[in-house]
Amino acid sequence: MWRKLLCAAGRGSRAGVLERADRAAFCDWNVVLARPGFRTPGDGAGPGTDRDGRHSNCFFRKYSVSKSTVESDELEKFQALSQKWWDRNGEFAALHALNDLRVPFIRDTLLTFSEKQQLGRPLRGFRILDVGCGGGLLSEPLGRLGAMVTGIDPLEDNIRLADIHKSFDPVLKELVQYSACCLEEMAMESPGRFDAVIASEVVEHVGDVETFIRCAAQVLKPGGSLFITTINKTFLSYALAIVAAEKIFRIVPNGTHEWEKFISPNKLETHLISSGFTVETINGMLYNPLFDSWSWIINTSVNYALHAVKKKIEEKSDFMSEGSGRKDHGCDQSESNVGSTVQS
Ligand SMILES: C[S@@+](CC[C@H](N)C(=O)[O-])C[C@H]1O[C@@H](n2cnc3c(N)ncnc32)[C@H](O)[C@@H]1O
Repeated sequence: MWRKLLCAAGRGSRAGVLERADRAAFCDWNVVLARPGFRTPGDGAGPGTDRDGRHSNCFFRKYSVSKSTVESDELEKFQALSQKWWDRNGEFAALHALNDLRVPFIRDTLLTFSEKQQLGRPLRGFRILDVGCGGGLLSEPLGRLGAMVTGIDPLEDNIRLADIHKSFDPVLKELVQYSACCLEEMAMESPGRFDAVIASEVVEHVGDVETFIRCAAQVLKPGGSLFITTINKTFLSYALAIVAAEKIFRIVPNGTHEWEKFISPNKLETHLISSGFTVETINGMLYNPLFDSWSWIINTSVNYALHAVKKKIEEKSDFMSEGSGRKDHGCDQSESNVGSTVQS
């Protein structure tokens, strides 16, 4: 039953992506179509191929400015897996298991930093942005805890699947909303709107982490929380997250990660501080593939989770002083910075 539904969703997806280009028109097809070498769907070169016939951005929305956190080769990886999100034993099994760690981490941290407390629905009243939400594996449980969750992902098929899966639980109807867009757009549309931003297993797929963090700061309320889980850039992370997990044990598909894009907690902290955050917590996480389970550890040399808080007095942070003079950045509020360009 599940499999059939998800397959049906997959079959409809290509047409649907184009139909929903009205939403994407904001990110301006015209700009992309005007780019030399880009062919339109149905122009004989196959959908979204470039002049050389290379498979290109056919399933992805097009963005219109020059600075972006979204990379097309990263989206291609997730496009191939976009019907697999809710297969508990499939390619995203480790992310399902990670909920045992990250959901309580987010819940307890938010409650510690807040006076809002509601038994039964502890996160009621919290507005959370789940960036790179994929199929909604994290958005859904946070919604069930009472939070108003907005899940965003640049890949339309992920959002389509997340929407279908959400519809099976009526409790989530009013609480979880999904949108196919990138963080830059949210920063433009909804500055200062969220109590918390989550980027779980996303930063290692992002093209420009500095812009990404800056945009996260922009959508957060002063005093809001940013949660990141990601992978450190160490020899051990190369050995475990790439060689062992991808090439030997096939826990995730080969090619999912690029070591160059991993980031150390120190470097992440530098970006965070310059965007007006204070880092409150950095915890190591360890995945045990034999038991398909995660645990907290002190060592952060492979996987880690980070919690940072946006400073309340923004005038004193580098974020404000830099941001105000930086018109070329992908995340200020000028018209010229709407959306982003998908980079190859
Ligand atoms: C490893 S998955 C994590 C999904 C989800 N956060 C979870 O943990 O279940 C990475 C997700 O990030 C999305 N993604 C890739 N590049 C992104 C970017 N620049 N901004 C936001 N999301 C991105 C992908 O489409 C994919 O859904």
